Amino acid sequence: MEIKKVAVIGAGTMGAGIAQVCASSGYEVYLNDLSVEILERAQANIENSLARFVDKKKISADDMKVALGRLHKTTDLVEAVKDVDLVIEAVFEDLAVKKELFKKIDQHVPENAVLASNTSSLPITAIAAATRRPERVIGLHFMNPVPLMKGVEVIRARLSSDEAVATGIEFVKSLGKIPAEAVDYPGFIVSRILDVMLNEAVYCVMDGNKPEEIDKAMKVCTNFPMGPLELIDMAGADVLLHVMECLNRELGDKYRPAPLLAQMVRAGQLGRKTGQGFYSYKK
Ligand code: NAI
Repeated sequence: MEIKKVAVIGAGTMGAGIAQVCASSGYEVYLNDLSVEILERAQANIENSLARFVDKKKISADDMKVALGRLHKTTDLVEAVKDVDLVIEAVFEDLAVKKELFKKIDQHVPENAVLASNTSSLPITAIAAATRRPERVIGLHFMNPVPLMKGVEVIRARLSSDEAVATGIEFVKSLGKIPAEAVDYPGFIVSRILDVMLNEAVYCVMDGNKPEEIDKAMKVCTNFPMGPLELIDMAGADVLLHVMECLNRELGDKYRPAPLLAQMVRAGQLGRKTGQGFYSYKK
């Protein structure tokens, strides 16, 4: 199926990045969020990000102008989805919110459109069940920061059709990114493997290992670009705890969040964003 127009619902960190790469790749993009202020902030973030690509001579100033011309912002959900071939949802990580939204989108989007969620931990199958077209619902799990990260997980939910999955794969390729197909179990592939490893690093701290030694060992012995604890500090301990709780709930004890992780979240030691995590970021 050929995609020409894309709606991106949610203009936060991920939605703005997704809208940017879609517009840069030649798609007409309809970006939707709850308020004009949020949409304006997203537009400013997209302009800044594109300007950095211009500075680095990866795109021309003209390319930037053309991409921005393909970006249409609206607070009206119906307006955003009524004429598109693909909807990518990137709103808060809350199953009830996403189900409600998919139910609404389903009522207004063209019959043939593919609906995708960018969720990092919720079951696509449950989101799909809120629509009358579960066979046309897939996951498109972009990585943060979207304009820079190459990989995208394409998630096949229980009832996704081969055609919808193939459309997702081709679409990801058309953005200059690399698709990895995953089945719809908690954490898909990337979070399930990566977050378990990060959680294990927290257990290593509990066992008495020094954070800097853990990070050093993983960097120099396995060529990780960043240590696991540095990565947790960057992403946020709360984000990791949330995913581990999902994995634990669905897949059992092996995925139990490290008690120290939960303690740090309770203490507000979330990492860079609060100035303290496994390391201190206070000036
Ligand atoms: P965010 O909090 O930055 O943005 C969410 C946006 O959705 C907000 O601007 C909010 O106003 C908007 N929104 C909420 N309800 C809405 C509705 N009914 N209609 C339209 N807009 C609505 O969140 P972020 O980080 O961009 O995450 C979005 C999704 O992407 C989540 O499902 C998250 O799990 C997933 N994700 C996040 C990653 C990250 O590193 N931040 C990485 C990969 C996936």
